[in-house]
Amino acid sequence: REIPIITVDGPSGAGKGTLCQKLAQYYGFHLLDSGAIYRIAALAVCNLQVSIEDESAVLRVIETLDIQFKTVDQKIAVFLDGKEVSSQIRTERVGMAASKIAALGNVRAALLERQRHFAQSPGLIADGRDMGTTVFPNADVKVFLTATAEERARRRYQQLLSSGVDADFEAILSDIQLRDEQDSKRAVSPLKACTSAVSIDSSEMTIDAVFEKIVEYADSIL
Ligand code: C5P
Repeated sequence: REIPIITVDGPSGAGKGTLCQKLAQYYGFHLLDSGAIYRIAALAVCNLQVSIEDESAVLRVIETLDIQFKTVDQKIAVFLDGKEVSSQIRTERVGMAASKIAALGNVRAALLERQRHFAQSPGLIADGRDMGTTVFPNADVKVFLTATAEERARRRYQQLLSSGVDADFEAILSDIQLRDEQDSKRAVSPLKACTSAVSIDSSEMTIDAVFEKIVEYADSIL
């Protein structure tokens, strides 16, 4: 088999981002943050004031999307049309718009090849919702990472407070619940654990403990 691939899927806020960065560093593999691709697509759609309801207009934006990822100081910077949008794509507004356009089958199909291109030597860590089920069904190691909505909201809340942003816990929790619902109920590529994935609930684990567990498992396969 050519390129080793580890997929990590799960709902937003389960700790996939941090976990995948650690895995990519540990193995020296490339990292695909597929959520960032959906977020950049949503940002482009919003910037051009295209209505999310207008599927063919959304699709035209996606097909000409100019995206770049660059690694700076072990952090990944994201560019849309040559302009850095790393923090702009992290807002709740863009996350919600991403979740809406991500429900469109044609949008997902248009982004499929772009995502598969990330599978380059020496290997890939793929972070998302459907990495193990749809984008890389032949991945060597598949992980499904979850945590309760309350725990994920608590983490997000702490993260915002510590970055100096005023936050409302109840509002965060209801956004998380809404996005979970949107992502798991959509018809195309819904968020669900594939049968061959190892499922880990991180509610009462640190990300370091999750990392250790996955490395132990992955090392026995790769
Ligand atoms: O993971 P993140 O919160 O950045 O993803 C933003 C949104 O993009 C998700 O809520 C989901 O709707 C969508 N997404 C997806 N498939 C992926 C990654 C993200 O549908 N593989």
